[in-house]
Amino acid sequence: MDELSLDRTVAVVGSGTMGRGIAQVALTAGHPVLLYDAAPGTAERAARAIGERLDRLVEKGRMSAEQRAGAGARLVAAGQLSELAPAGLVVEAIVEDLAVKQRLFADLEGVVADDCLLATNTSSLPVTAVAAPLRLPGRFVGLHFFNPAPVLPLVEVVSGAATDRAAADRAHATARAWGKTPVRCTDSPGFIVNRVARPFYAEAFRVYEERGADPATIDAVLRESGGFAMGPFELTDLIGQDVNEAVTTSVWTAFGFDPRFTPSLAQRQLVQSGRIGRKSGHGWYAYGEGAERPIP
Ligand code: NAI
Repeated sequence: MDELSLDRTVAVVGSGTMGRGIAQVALTAGHPVLLYDAAPGTAERAARAIGERLDRLVEKGRMSAEQRAGAGARLVAAGQLSELAPAGLVVEAIVEDLAVKQRLFADLEGVVADDCLLATNTSSLPVTAVAAPLRLPGRFVGLHFFNPAPVLPLVEVVSGAATDRAAADRAHATARAWGKTPVRCTDSPGFIVNRVARPFYAEAFRVYEERGADPATIDAVLRESGGFAMGPFELTDLIGQDVNEAVTTSVWTAFGFDPRFTPSLAQRQLVQSGRIGRKSGHGWYAYGEGAERPIP
């Protein structure tokens, strides 16, 4: 199965951290891109942010001014879901909530053509369950990018129980054509990376909760001795504590509340207090004016 041709529009629903990264990837690959978000003004802000990122690529000599102008002209912020009708592929990157995602895709099926590939960027919800209410669930796949999407090559291509082989093949070929490294997997909780990564976060949070060491110390140890690019506290601040906690909770639930995956109370309290990481200015660390510092 061939990749999505470059004349087909890619629609990205949800214009937050991941949506804007995925939109940038599709845009720089050469597709027309439609960005949509339910929160008014967000898609427009995301389009401006993508433009600024492309400008930086031009300054660094990694994109020509001509390519930049072409990409800018192909990016449109849509005001209504109905404007996504021309899409050949929709990638959803909205809130990690099963009912909200199901409702969105049910609405989308009434908007796009029957040959439009539908994809979710969910980190941990069952692809099979997200697709369950659809009239044509065979064209539905998981297309799981990693943060930051324009930089990290890995994409998990997840087949749910109803996914047609042809749809998974097309998603895989498209990710490859976009310069990514796609891997196929089935719909097991957390797929590959988010399953294997759970203990990395959970054990670090437990060490902190047991007053074993503070976040900065644990991060430094894992970076300097563990060989990780980022420690678990700084990485979850980048991911978003809300997103990371939702992933843990859904993997924990899927495994029948297996204690290996029990969510961290300290992380839950961060989420409850609105300290959800870099995007809110606070998480395990404080950001903004002055140096990053751990919150006591
Ligand atoms: P985010 O909170 O940065 O952005 C979500 C956006 O979706 C917001 O702008 C919100 O207004 C919008 N939205 C919410 N409900 C909507 C609806 N019904 N229709 C349209 N727009 C809606 O979240 P983020 O981090 O971009 O995550 C999005 C998805 O990507 C989640 O499923 C998450 O699990 C997944 N993901 C997140 C990663 C991360 O590192 N943050 C990595 C890989 C996947």
